[in-house]
Amino acid sequence: MSQGQRVLVTHRVLDPAPALLADAAQAVEYEGDLSAESIAAAAAGCAGILSQSIDPVDERVLSTPGLRAVSNVAVGYDNIDVEAATRHGVLVTNTPGVLDETTADLAFALLLAAGRRLGEGERMIRAGQWEGWAIDQLLGRDIHRATLGIVGLGRIGQAVARRARGFDMRILYAQRSQGDPSVERELNAERRELGNLLAEADFVSLHTPLTEETRHLIGAAELASMKSSAVLVNTARGPVVDEAALARALRERRIFAAGLDVFEAEPRVHPDLLGLDNVVLLPHVGSGSVDTRARMCETAARNLVAALRGERPEHLVNPEAWKDR
Ligand code: GLV
Repeated sequence: MSQGQRVLVTHRVLDPAPALLADAAQAVEYEGDLSAESIAAAAAGCAGILSQSIDPVDERVLSTPGLRAVSNVAVGYDNIDVEAATRHGVLVTNTPGVLDETTADLAFALLLAAGRRLGEGERMIRAGQWEGWAIDQLLGRDIHRATLGIVGLGRIGQAVARRARGFDMRILYAQRSQGDPSVERELNAERRELGNLLAEADFVSLHTPLTEETRHLIGAAELASMKSSAVLVNTARGPVVDEAALARALRERRIFAAGLDVFEAEPRVHPDLLGLDNVVLLPHVGSGSVDTRARMCETAARNLVAALRGERPEHLVNPEAWKDR
């Protein structure tokens, strides 16, 4: 690989990624806006792009002459048109594995926070409205021995289920295909159709990627089938949930609470959610621990460097694009 190869780095990345990239290529920092046109203009002359999940990487970017790889600093890659990448022979990589436990920690934190009304309690104290202990104050839902429904029992879903076992929760899961029997046994997890899972679960945690099939997977009808005592947690992708329908369900107390780390049009949050007490809102920090974010940056930099060296990157999303090499 020639050190003269240019790579577009769309946003700041953490150590050790800058040094790994500098060893192998000339990094071009990006100062434009978050539009595909601007990213495409900045990518001219670049062999690689180190992108993040907020960057739209579409046909306009992927048709850049000489572009060979796009490395996303994220496990999700719904921001990248993978089909167009494959058509243009551009390798796409992501960072699976390194963020599973950290994201599962946050999903569990949201489950606890929403179920036990932590946000409301915090706000009450800070507003000087706490008048003392009361028998019926801020009563929440028990997490221990409740039924947890996991939608998508992949790596992160499994990590959530392992935490749930420590709380003696009963674990149900829904996904397109039957899970690995050894995983089901280890987690004592039973598969259900989504509709049945939603009707049975006390807590529902979403762990599916965003695809055309999962967009608005949880809409008005699905929310209506949940228990009125149930809590919904989303640390996956915002558009998996119909946010307007969720705001309505929360306002009308058709479900008990929700915990959200992701939104349909980040950083915009549906205005109706902002006024509701029974939702805990976080600014997409699922993988946001010091160590994990550094490992994501490192993994993404290694993927990109490998691709530019002509080696098969470890986390290749579109192996079809590799076939022709
Ligand atoms: C973050 O949202 C990721 O996909 O890694």
